[in-house]
Amino acid sequence: MISTNIILTGFMGSGKSSVGRVLAKELNTYFIDTDNLIESFENKTIPEIFKEEGEEAFRAKERYCFNWIKNNVKNTIISVGGGFPVFVPEIKEAGLVIYLKVPFEEILKRMSDEEIKRRPLFQDIQKAKELYVKRDKIYEKLADVIIENRNLYSTVKKIKELTCK
Ligand code: S3P
Repeated sequence: MISTNIILTGFMGSGKSSVGRVLAKELNTYFIDTDNLIESFENKTIPEIFKEEGEEAFRAKERYCFNWIKNNVKNTIISVGGGFPVFVPEIKEAGLVIYLKVPFEEILKRMSDEEIKRRPLFQDIQKAKELYVKRDKIYEKLADVIIENRNLYSTVKKIKELTCK
C-alpha cells in the first residue's frame, strides 16, 4: 500500500495510463485517469468536449477535477492528461509527481491511428511536436521524479522501488 497519491504526467501517448493500471494492480490500490473522470462527469468524450465547448472549457474542467482529487482522493495512482500540469501547475499539492518521459519520435511510433484520433491536439503532427518541445520543460520543472519510460514493466518496477520503502 502507498501512503500518498502517485501522479503520472507526460505527453500524449507516453504510456501514463498503461503504466498507471499495472502499477495500481501491483500496489493493490486504485487507478484513476483524469480524462476518464471528466468524460464520465460530462457524459461526453474528450473530442466532443473540445469540439462543442472548446479547449478553454476543457481546461476549466481539468481544474475542477484537480480540486476534486485534492479533496477526495488518497493513496491512488492518478494519470493526468498531457496538458494538465501546464494548466494546473500546483499539481504537486495532490501527490508525488512522476514525469514519464518518452522521445517524440518514439511516441509517434507507438501510437495507433485510433489513439491519434482520440486526441484533438495530436491531429497536426508538426504542431504536436512543437507542443512536445514546449511542454517537456514544464513537465521536468513540475516533477518530483523523471523516469524515461522505455518499457512498461521496468518503469513500473522503478516506481515501486521509489515509493515502497
Ligand atoms: C491533452 C491530452 C489528452 C487529453 C486532451 C488534451 C493535451 O490526454 O487530456 O486531449 O493537452 O495534451 P492524454 O495525455 O492522456 O492523451
